[in-house]
Amino acid sequence: ALRKDDNVVWHPHAVTRADREKQQGHRGAVLWFTGLSGSGKSTVAGALEQALHRQGVSTYLLDGDNVRHGLCRDLGFTDDDRRENIRRVGEVAKLMVDAGLVVLTAFISPHRAERDMVRDLLESGQFVEIFVDTPLAICEARDPKGLYKKARAGELKNFTGIDAEYQPPETPDVHLDGEQLVTQLVPQLLEVMRQRAIIN
Ligand code: PPS
Repeated sequence: ALRKDDNVVWHPHAVTRADREKQQGHRGAVLWFTGLSGSGKSTVAGALEQALHRQGVSTYLLDGDNVRHGLCRDLGFTDDDRRENIRRVGEVAKLMVDAGLVVLTAFISPHRAERDMVRDLLESGQFVEIFVDTPLAICEARDPKGLYKKARAGELKNFTGIDAEYQPPETPDVHLDGEQLVTQLVPQLLEVMRQRAIIN
């Protein structure tokens, strides 16, 4: 979307992303995890972040539960609010990529259009869409926060997978089997990052 007025101009800075990436020894990128509640997004992203951090990669993990306590505390779970949630996170992630960080995000991000909006915010190669594909029945059996139970009982409306839609990625950059162990999934992701020259 365009700015609301034209009296603000983009100001180029003396230190560029390329300068920061050179100093840090790796590229900036967004690893965008998407999947149902309870699919394992945060767990896998957290384990990958730990592995990257150990290798000296500068990382930051943004996740739904945390962001919704601050930056997005005014937003709920209507389609409009989810769209605004993902838009803000996308813009923050873009700034962090400009800072040369490897940003890991763990949001349900149920709509294709919003995931594509974030992809379009970034340069090609900077956005890696990772589908944590865990069947609804498994997520519901895990039910770590008891939210599926509440949704089934009608105490929680608009719950993704129950009475709100989840649109699975058709061509994700990485398709993970969410029933595998985290220790099996992390090496797969590190390999993709090396292939894409995000890390060495
Ligand atoms: S979204 O759709 O991307 O804007 O959602 P996100 O910011 O990732 O927030 C998802 C977490 O919020 C809790 N929660 C709900 N999820 C889905 N639908 C409804 N109605 C809902 N209400 C609360 C839930 O704990 C999600 O956490 P995760 O980590 O995904 O299980």
